[in-house]
Amino acid sequence: MTKPAQEQGKSVFIRTYGCQMNVYDSERMAGLLKPLGYGVADAPEDADLVILNTCHIREKAAEKVYSELGRLKQIKTAKKTAGEELTIAVAGCVAQAEGPEIKARAPQVDITVGPQAYHRLPELLAKAARKDGAVLETDFAVEEKFDRLADRKADGPTAFVTIQEGCDKFCTFCVVPYTRGAEVSRSVDQITDEVRLLAGQGVKEITLLGQNVNAWRHAPPAGDAGDDWGLGELCRHLAKIDGIERLRFTTSHPRDMDDGLIAALGEEEKLMPYLHLPVQAGSDQILKTMNRGHTAEDYLRQIERIRAARPDIAISGDFIVGFPGETDEDFQATLDLVTEVEYASAFSFKYSRRPGTPGSVMQKQVPEALKDERLSLLQALLDVQRRSFNDAQRGRTLPVLFEKTGRHEGQLVGRSPYLQSVHVTAPKSMLGSIAPVKIKGVTPNALAGELDKRREAAA
Ligand code: SAH
Ligand code: SF4
Ligand code: F3S
Repeated sequence: MTKPAQEQGKSVFIRTYGCQMNVYDSERMAGLLKPLGYGVADAPEDADLVILNTCHIREKAAEKVYSELGRLKQIKTAKKTAGEELTIAVAGCVAQAEGPEIKARAPQVDITVGPQAYHRLPELLAKAARKDGAVLETDFAVEEKFDRLADRKADGPTAFVTIQEGCDKFCTFCVVPYTRGAEVSRSVDQITDEVRLLAGQGVKEITLLGQNVNAWRHAPPAGDAGDDWGLGELCRHLAKIDGIERLRFTTSHPRDMDDGLIAALGEEEKLMPYLHLPVQAGSDQILKTMNRGHTAEDYLRQIERIRAARPDIAISGDFIVGFPGETDEDFQATLDLVTEVEYASAFSFKYSRRPGTPGSVMQKQVPEALKDERLSLLQALLDVQRRSFNDAQRGRTLPVLFEKTGRHEGQLVGRSPYLQSVHVTAPKSMLGSIAPVKIKGVTPNALAGELDKRREAAA
């Protein structure tokens, strides 16, 4: 089919901020634009369309967008002088939360589109091209979104698949329930089709995504009687798809770790022994004002049950320091919880006041300098734990999925079951395959190893 002349040979540059769900969305936006004739550009200067896929989670993340828009304005002006055009689109969570502000602060933006409406990009581009003013689209049309995203091209042996969107938890610090809307689960059939399509293109590892991925719940596939499925059942089902060797899911909420999922973690070997289970804080008082819906003890008991089912599981988490009202004792409770759990990896943040969230107007905001102090203490402890987890791999033989070539000639980089990067000297022909690697070296952020020739020969 020939395309109209104006739709040929265009290119799009997409910059992605924020979480893995945005990474997934960016890939899908590129996929949507391809049939319109858009290739992918390596820099905004070379593009006809620039999309910033934005994150609103902390103030810094949101402010980055406006400084990037300043740079894009200059490129747009320079292009105009040269008789060329640059269309600028802001997608993602800042678009959802600050649509009208973007319009006021950055009139160079042509399209503002929320995370649940970007499947309408083709229409929005056409509208913007008619130059009838800036286009703003922030409907929560999540079901329509997934119905319209049919095709999918794999890019390497691992892939993300969003299975759940939105959040009903309303933690008092968090913008996600406002930017992504209510919890919605995709159907088993839709997810299975997408995973099959990817497996057919050589994908070996799938990471199922959702802001509350373990809140995923849906009726069984057509023809199957019985109750709704939870994430455990979905994982067991997807593990049967030919070609799929590894399954992961993120991010889980402690409240939604049900028995079915814990049993699946224990029994389904394709589920990798790595679980991101954020707790945010170790003090019951802070957990309560955060509206997390569980105590520190509840969380520790969950970890115990999970470790009983899957003893080799690596636990990762997220933490916030300096939430309003956090005393030295509260912060100490976080350190104590971390000491008890022993994390393999973790992300930690200073509390950031987000407009419109209950936390932002709470009394007893913690001074910035104290937040800094607490963050560095917490990070020092988490660092020691990460190093000791990595050190414990020395001398072990781990199955590694090779994902890409390394910086050095003849080197490949892959992932261990625990999501660690592993550097190995190996032929390029092994890209996309899983092989046993004997771990010889450990750096703070990665492992180095050698192909286990003996085991390979036996395999
Ligand atoms: N849905 C996930 C997390 C989503 S946001 C969950 O419930 O665990 C990712 C992380 O960002 C959160 O776990 C939290 O640690 C951090 N975060 C969210 N809002 C924040 C804020 N206002 N200030 C600092 N960190 C925040
Ligand atoms: Fe935000 Fe809490 Fe929902 Fe996670 S569970 S997305 S932290 S409101
Ligand atoms: Fe950020 Fe939105 Fe993800 S706020 S963390 S991009 S859901």
